[in-house]
Amino acid sequence: MSLLSEIAAEIRVCTLCELSQSRTNAVPGAGPEDAEVFFIGEAPGRNEDQQGLPFVGASGEFLTKLIRRAGCERSEVFITNVVKCRPPGNRDPMPDEIAACAPYLDRQIAAIDPLVIVTLGRFSMARYFPNERISRIHGRPKKVGRRTVVPMYHPAAALHQNALRSVIEEDFDQLGKIIARARAERDKEAAADEDAPSSHEQMKLF
Ligand code: URA
Repeated sequence: MSLLSEIAAEIRVCTLCELSQSRTNAVPGAGPEDAEVFFIGEAPGRNEDQQGLPFVGASGEFLTKLIRRAGCERSEVFITNVVKCRPPGNRDPMPDEIAACAPYLDRQIAAIDPLVIVTLGRFSMARYFPNERISRIHGRPKKVGRRTVVPMYHPAAALHQNALRSVIEEDFDQLGKIIARARAERDKEAAADEDAPSSHEQMKLF
C-alpha cells in the first residue's frame, strides 16, 4: 500500500473530532502520488460527503475548468481540503476541527512533496498567510521553503459573486506561468547541485 493510500485509509476511519459523527464518508483527497501541484480547499460539501471525493459538486466543475486554464489536467493534480469531513449544514470548519485534521494534511504534503501548493479560500490560505486578506494577495505567489504557495479565491465564491469570476479566471491564467517558473527554478537548482563538487571531491581540493 502506498503512503498516500495508508493516510487515506486512516482518514476514512478517523474519529478525532465531532465531524466524524455526522459524516457519510470522509474525503481524504484525490490525485496521483507524484502530483506537482497540490490544491487545498475548505471542507467537503453534501456531494463530496456522499461520494467520498473532493470537489464533485458545482464548485468542483468550475475548479476543473480553472485547472485547465492553468495548463493542467485535473487527473494530474492532487486535490484535498483543510478538513476531511463535512461540517453539518456546510458551516465553517471550527479551529479545533482544523487542528485535529492538520496532521493528515501535513502528511499528505510530505508524501507528495509538491512543487506548488494552491490554497482555495480563506481557511487554507491561513495556513501560509496568517492575518492576510484574500482580496489583497489573491494570485500572488510566495516561496515557503522549497515550495511556491499561491493563494486563490475559493471557486464557490466566484460562483456566488459574479464580479469575482473574471478575477479568479485571470488568476488561474497566471498560475500556468507560476508553475512553469517553479519548474525552471527547480531544474536550475538540480543542475547546480550536479555541477557542485561532492564533499569527497571538495576534500581532495585541499
Ligand atoms: N468546497 C470545498 O472547499 N471542498 C470541496 O471538496 C468541495 C467544495
